[in-house]
Amino acid sequence: MNKIYENREMMKSNFHLKKDIETDQSKKMPQPPLQKPFDENAERIKLPEFGEEIILDNSLLNCLKKRRSHRKFKDESLSLEELSFLLWSTQGIDEIRGDNYASIRPVPSAGARHPFETYLLINKVDGLNMGIYRYLPLTHELLFLFNEEEMVDKVEKITFRQKFVATAPVLFIWSCIPYRGEWRYSIASHKAMLLDAGHICQNLYLASEAIGCGTCAIAAYNQEEADALVEIDGQEEFVVYMSPVGKIEQ
Ligand SMILES: Cc1cc2nc3c(=O)[nH]c(=O)nc-3n(C[C@H](O)[C@H](O)[C@H](O)COP(=O)(O)O)c2cc1C
Repeated sequence: MNKIYENREMMKSNFHLKKDIETDQSKKMPQPPLQKPFDENAERIKLPEFGEEIILDNSLLNCLKKRRSHRKFKDESLSLEELSFLLWSTQGIDEIRGDNYASIRPVPSAGARHPFETYLLINKVDGLNMGIYRYLPLTHELLFLFNEEEMVDKVEKITFRQKFVATAPVLFIWSCIPYRGEWRYSIASHKAMLLDAGHICQNLYLASEAIGCGTCAIAAYNQEEADALVEIDGQEEFVVYMSPVGKIEQ
């Protein structure tokens, strides 16, 4: 082995492997729900169907070629149809298999476990008040969670002063619920989960390009503060990725 690697004690190929693990699925433990439960009495907003009229560029080749990270957005709101399209592209559900056994979505996920939830900081979307929302993929709805004074300042601080992240019309914040994957794959699910997060964000990049928007993957944020922002415990659920979206110059 090359000398420069001599004392390296970081990631190795066996970091996620442990032999002879009996998974909770094999022990016939109940499967965790496909979507995090919520208060049925809370305010929910049905997302509209989106039509072809929101698509400015229907060419996959163009969208792939144009895809770049964008950090400058126009001072323009997104329509609810555009947000509906972006949410479907990233985490929407097209099919349920078995007795709520698996959900099939525009993004792939190891074993169709889809161990993520989507939170949104809404700054500028037609018809929506500012605030933090959660996407409910099973019914294609938004769940209003709360709004707070000085939310933008708070998010700017959480993302280490990346102002464009906090002020974008919409900020996607994805959390991971590890047990959804662990139930089937135990410790081997962790690698797959983080690969899966990449698919979601890449779909957001391409879907954004198709509707005249831009985005930028964000992994630089304060973990504890990001978890606290969307009121999750950092144990059973924690933030893994963010991505702000806004209209861009064409
Ligand atoms: C996992 C990941 C984390 C990233 N985190 C940040 C970030 O916190 N802030 C930022 O401005 N860009 C971030 N980026 C964007 C990269 O800087 C960008 O993809 C890279 O410079 C290449 O540019 P391109 O996306 O335009 O091709 C991140 C990208 C990835 C894939």
